[in-house]
Amino acid sequence: MDWGMENRIAKLIKPESGRAVWLAIDHGYFLGAVSKLEKPGETVKPLLAFADAIMLTRGVLRNCIDAKNSPAVILRVSGGNSIIGEDLSKEAITTSIKEAVRLNAAACAFSIYVGAKYEHQTLLGLANLINEAQEYGIPVLAVTAVGKELAKRDARYLSLSCRIAAELGAQLIKTYYCENFEKVVNSSPVPLVIAGGPKLRTERDALQLAYDAVQQGAVGVDMGRNIWQSDNSLAIIQAVRHIVHENASVSQAQELFDSLKN
Ligand code: 5RP
Repeated sequence: MDWGMENRIAKLIKPESGRAVWLAIDHGYFLGAVSKLEKPGETVKPLLAFADAIMLTRGVLRNCIDAKNSPAVILRVSGGNSIIGEDLSKEAITTSIKEAVRLNAAACAFSIYVGAKYEHQTLLGLANLINEAQEYGIPVLAVTAVGKELAKRDARYLSLSCRIAAELGAQLIKTYYCENFEKVVNSSPVPLVIAGGPKLRTERDALQLAYDAVQQGAVGVDMGRNIWQSDNSLAIIQAVRHIVHENASVSQAQELFDSLKN
């Protein structure tokens, strides 16, 4: 692997643990100002010290994140869709590789929608992005999006999506946790992280999700709502780190959470 690519991936997946805790705040690119992310800079400022990377668009990065105090950046470079538009899968490249270089991105993120109306457009978009990013040593994170069809998140579907993303050359994949998650992990020759999905009922549920995912082979999490929509976001991100980087059990992480929460 080229030095630049290896160096960027080492910023995202910590060599000491082989694991990753990323904070996703890119939701606005198709959802607008979601609850608790109306002012992304304020919401995430205290959390940044505990994230190995933040995933976001160039607009939020430039306007809301201090360049002198930022973890590694995973730049979302796909979009062009909205929650009220024709079809969520109608997504394409929005941000050039030159921008990614200018913003010192450690990776670019692009969503694919396997089985959806615009599947072909998103798969070719991913392949084209990888072709360009490879020239600059920038890894690409493929996101196996499911749009509004959350029920699609089963092992058969996700392993198909992850394998296609890896075959097209993605160096990293973000997917969902599901029953039989090992099947998804086994179908991908590149590291997988999981999204948190919509806010779960309790913080313990989020800890259990992180635990199950890493136990079954994910290298970590790229969580959003289950961190910053929590009333105890600082405590939950540290508890998730305890699981991901230090192999804590759910009970140990819950203990840490309880000792840190308000
Ligand atoms: C959408 C994304 C989102 O950033 C991500 O899934 C959100 O994270 P979470 O589900 O944990 O709020 O990539 O495709």
